[in-house]
Amino acid sequence: MESLLRVIKNAERKGVAVGHFNVSNLEMLKAVSSVGRKLKLPIVIGVSEGERDYLGVNQVRDLIDSYNSEHFESGYRLYLNADHTYSLEKIKEAARAGFDAVIFDGAGLPFEENIRRTKEAVRAAKKINKEILVEGELGYIGRSSKLLDKLPKGAAIKTKDLPTAEQAFRFVKETQVDMLAPAVGNIHGMFAKARNPKLDIERIKEIKNAVKIPLVLHGGSGVSDKDFRAAIKAGISLIHVSTELRVAWRTGLEKSFRKNKNEIAPYKIMPGVLKEIEKVVERRMVIFRGR
Ligand code: G3H
Ligand code: ZN
Repeated sequence: MESLLRVIKNAERKGVAVGHFNVSNLEMLKAVSSVGRKLKLPIVIGVSEGERDYLGVNQVRDLIDSYNSEHFESGYRLYLNADHTYSLEKIKEAARAGFDAVIFDGAGLPFEENIRRTKEAVRAAKKINKEILVEGELGYIGRSSKLLDKLPKGAAIKTKDLPTAEQAFRFVKETQVDMLAPAVGNIHGMFAKARNPKLDIERIKEIKNAVKIPLVLHGGSGVSDKDFRAAIKAGISLIHVSTELRVAWRTGLEKSFRKNKNEIAPYKIMPGVLKEIEKVVERRMVIFRGR
């Protein structure tokens, strides 16, 4: 089985990106998996601290293993990432549970402290599993995958507030992270009635030239197709999307309830929800795979 690092490096070589989608329940996981099978592509499943507390750290690992062992479509495979993790304990818990990747999120910390804590996280995770990928976060972009009516407080959006190529170089060198997610004009969450800010494509290029590891783009919801394509071309190899799936889940559920007024069997109500989520995932994956 190909390692996640190989999958990401292959994407990098081909000038495409791997999709990372957050899930909170079985319906979301089913929907993402079915798009991966349809398109015959690898996909990373992300679970934040809250999402994995709800799903169960070991249970979500078992579910992914079960999908992977049952479906042999060429090219398809699910990988598991412990998304935005804020403590060493939670990093260790995910590493012990056999996650393919973990993110230590020190983006809200002062630069030097972020380096120190991320470095500790890399050591702790690799001590448990030397193959696990550890991602570091540089530059604060907000924390919630929700519908927004204003920018997340304190988020770095303007070019002058974004991490520089020099900072990224030092961060990677000192922490030894495998992947880096810099703030490049992206934010967590999506404006309900407006477009998200534009990505700083130049800054992505500068950072990519300075660090030789894969770059990750968070906050994919609400980003335009044009920005995605330019970001991938500039050096992004893994893209996170969450809010759009949450919106699709809720819209799908509401539609399904309206359509099936007296239905009480979940397996008859949920297919409508899966369809809504699948549409979002497929639309994004088609852009990420570059064809
Ligand atoms: O880690 C999760 C993502 O960065 C999702 O961000 O909810 O804005 O799509 P989003
Ligand atoms: Zn994120």
